[in-house]
Amino acid sequence: MDIKIFEGVKTPFYYYDKELLERTLDAIEACTAGTPMKVHYAIKANSEPEILRIISSRGFGADCVSGNEIMTAISCGFRPENIYYAGVGKTDEEILTGIDCGIGCFNIESIEEIDILSELSAQRGKRVTVALRVNPNIDAHTHEYITTGLKENKFGIDMRMLDEAIKKVKSSEHLDLGGLHFHIGSQITISEPFKLLCKKINDLKARYRLEGIDFRFFNVGGGLGIDYENPDKNPIPDFGTYFNTILSNLDLAEGQEVHCELGRAIVAQCGSLISKVVLVKKGIEKNFVIIDGGMSDLIRPALYGAHHKIENLSTIGRPADKIYEVVGPICESSDVFGKDELLPETHRGDLIALRSAGAYGSAMSSQYNMRNLPGHLIR
Ligand code: LLP
Repeated sequence: MDIKIFEGVKTPFYYYDKELLERTLDAIEACTAGTPMKVHYAIKANSEPEILRIISSRGFGADCVSGNEIMTAISCGFRPENIYYAGVGKTDEEILTGIDCGIGCFNIESIEEIDILSELSAQRGKRVTVALRVNPNIDAHTHEYITTGLKENKFGIDMRMLDEAIKKVKSSEHLDLGGLHFHIGSQITISEPFKLLCKKINDLKARYRLEGIDFRFFNVGGGLGIDYENPDKNPIPDFGTYFNTILSNLDLAEGQEVHCELGRAIVAQCGSLISKVVLVKKGIEKNFVIIDGGMSDLIRPALYGAHHKIENLSTIGRPADKIYEVVGPICESSDVFGKDELLPETHRGDLIALRSAGAYGSAMSSQYNMRNLPGHLIR
């Protein structure tokens, strides 16, 4: 990172490396061209309009979870028919936004929602496509707060209620059953959970085929993880293995599509939170590097115990021979980015990068302590 481009930019701010984002998108295109795979970007990971415009210009679809995300996606160039809307608690107003905008699909998460969507579509005199989100009860082996496909989660329809759900959709004049939707969790770094998911999908496909029900698509959700500890060694996730796992394990019929909703894998590595060292505080047992970025700017460490690689951009090339606790300025003891960080000797005014922060960084920022929201620089 050349810190000259940061001169005069008010910290803390998110820096996004546009070239890395483009290369990440190139890698996805190279793996999916000519396959039945369609990629929908999960907007919740990062909804900076400039980033959305870069992604939409590649013809990707969008996975949205609120009415505002739908409106933002459309204003940033995503085609309404490529927008899919998921969420366990869509409000009537949000559903009507989706219907009025002509989005491609509603991912339904409960039997109750089928009636609500059917009623609201009838009100608008429209027919909408739906996918049923099935809870496949697969352990994604990731953090408990971001695992979603286990049966005790609030997400999706329990497998045992799927027959009833399908019957209900089929009996509505206003709903068209497009496919099945799944999402088993996030930051998944092994292939096994995705293989298990494909097996579940194959079983469901075969079972419903016998009843004369065919699906136009299966949506495997998002979840592909990234390398938080080695962002320079692995700046682009292993899309080859991921797409190959899905495409080679799914038994698709002629014309059937498979969709995925990647968020983190697309935008995480291109972003860093850049902060300035406010002061270095000497303690008895340890020394603290106190930066101007805090948990209000990047909540992942405080919320999930996540670790983002920490770099002192002002001391590149110097030996990392001091141990510091790197913390934010917020009045919470969880406002800590690293407990025992090996860094070169650090001083007031140095620029610190928290790497791999392009996903669920600015998107989850808040104004806690009445702080300003972090700024951004896209280059
Ligand atoms: N599809 C659905 C239905 C989802 O719930 C999610 C993420 C995605 C796709 C995108 O997943 P991804 O490809 O990004 O793993 N804030 C947490 C992550 C929460 C993920 C929520 N759902 C974090 O910072 O780790």
